[in-house]
Amino acid sequence: DALVKINDQVDPTLSFRRSCREGVCGSCAMNIDGHNTLACLTPINSLKAGASRITPLPHLPVLKDLIPDLTGLYAQYALIEPWLQSDQPPPDRERRQSPEDRAKLDGLWECILCFCCTTSCPSYWWSGERYLGPAILLQAYRWIADSRDEAAGERLDDLEDPFRLYRCHTIMNCTRTCPKSLNPAKAIAEIKQLM
Ligand code: SF4
Ligand code: F3S
Ligand code: FES
Repeated sequence: DALVKINDQVDPTLSFRRSCREGVCGSCAMNIDGHNTLACLTPINSLKAGASRITPLPHLPVLKDLIPDLTGLYAQYALIEPWLQSDQPPPDRERRQSPEDRAKLDGLWECILCFCCTTSCPSYWWSGERYLGPAILLQAYRWIADSRDEAAGERLDDLEDPFRLYRCHTIMNCTRTCPKSLNPAKAIAEIKQLM
């Protein structure tokens, strides 16, 4: 609301991304008073009194104002092939799984790819060209953990690299900052355990 008001009444050139205004599209991720978070889920009255400092997500190239360039992150997302892979011919209806197997995806499917976690991770700041970072690794685990996917072995092989996975040093900023209360550090630990 504050940014829209500034854009309407003070500076029409102020640029930022937003769409859903309810924490499901991930577009409005930015750094507010030192924390990566979603602007739309941050009530104005939760901010400290006086001026707030709002900057783009850290350590990414900036296209304009509060709009970071996500090109590199989406290229890394493509690398993990984020779709269901199976040699079984598609059934007439959905591919089914047991409620227990379905429950293993809880805490993973809710990720909205806002990249608050990845851009809070010092390992990603240092090695972002080769380390995949917490958001992409959580997504990789989302497919590895899916009982309907048959490519877990290949997916793990693709992560077997000194940088892609093992640059996570359990710093935990990712889990602390996730505005959806997810735990990417745990997903990374699960992948390491499977390795
Ligand atoms: Fe955003 Fe959380 Fe997903 Fe990271 S794990 S991209 S912080 S929703
Ligand atoms: Fe970074 Fe989270 Fe690992 S902050 S080092 S991805 S535990
Ligand atoms: Fe969609 Fe904030 S506008 S998450």
